Amino acid sequence: MIRSRRAARSFRPDPVPGDTMRAIFSLAGAAPSNSNTQPWTVEVVSGAARDRLSEALLAAHAHGHLSVDFPYRDDLYSEVHQKRRKDFGETMYTALGIARDDRAARDAHNAESLRFYGAPHVALVCAPANADARMAADVGMYGQTLLLAMTAYGIASCPQGLLGFYGNTIRETLRIRDGKVLFGVSFGYALDHAPVNNLAVTRAGLDETTRFHA
Ligand SMILES: Cc1cc2nc3c(=O)[nH]c(=O)nc-3n(C[C@H](O)[C@H](O)[C@H](O)COP(=O)(O)O)c2cc1C
Repeated sequence: MIRSRRAARSFRPDPVPGDTMRAIFSLAGAAPSNSNTQPWTVEVVSGAARDRLSEALLAAHAHGHLSVDFPYRDDLYSEVHQKRRKDFGETMYTALGIARDDRAARDAHNAESLRFYGAPHVALVCAPANADARMAADVGMYGQTLLLAMTAYGIASCPQGLLGFYGNTIRETLRIRDGKVLFGVSFGYALDHAPVNNLAVTRAGLDETTRFHA
């Protein structure tokens, strides 16, 4: 099941039934956390609220209104991380038929991600306003538990860090005051045959990331 989960970027509009949603998000809450603090809060957005949020995100994108909840810097990545990112980008943009220097098409793809790639639901996964790396670890545990719970129920998903670049827009639209957005998860039923949902995304070999000491 772990290997069968992959990020989907093209969805059917059909909604996920309410009882399935409650089962999935209950399961996700079984994730471990430091001293069982469970420092995540989750906003699950569907229907008209989802459409309003997407419109607000697209408007913020068009006007360059970014409000990044957790600072991002390209230079956080070492050479090996940058290479993996570049390889992934090439795989994805090739599947989408977008050339490396086609800025307009890449921008259109970014906008599509603010439409949640057509998914009928998005969950915004938030940490407390004062969150540090320790709390981010807890919320990351929640995130993968959520994605696997979705996989178990046949629900496709795409974790999206980009949504955290629009924290103020999300809080204003959903009328929430607290919480910083670490990432969103667009989810629903995948368009199985879309090339973008069938990327050959590889992983580093075991020895590249893991040392066994005895
Ligand atoms: C925290 C996090 C943030 C991500 N942000 C984005 C994003 O903003 N947009 C997107 O299309 N994919 C995003 N992804 C998906 C990754 O690109 C994807 O997980 C990775 O390339 C591995 O592919 P796989 O999930 O299909 O195995 C994100 C994944 C994680 C875990």
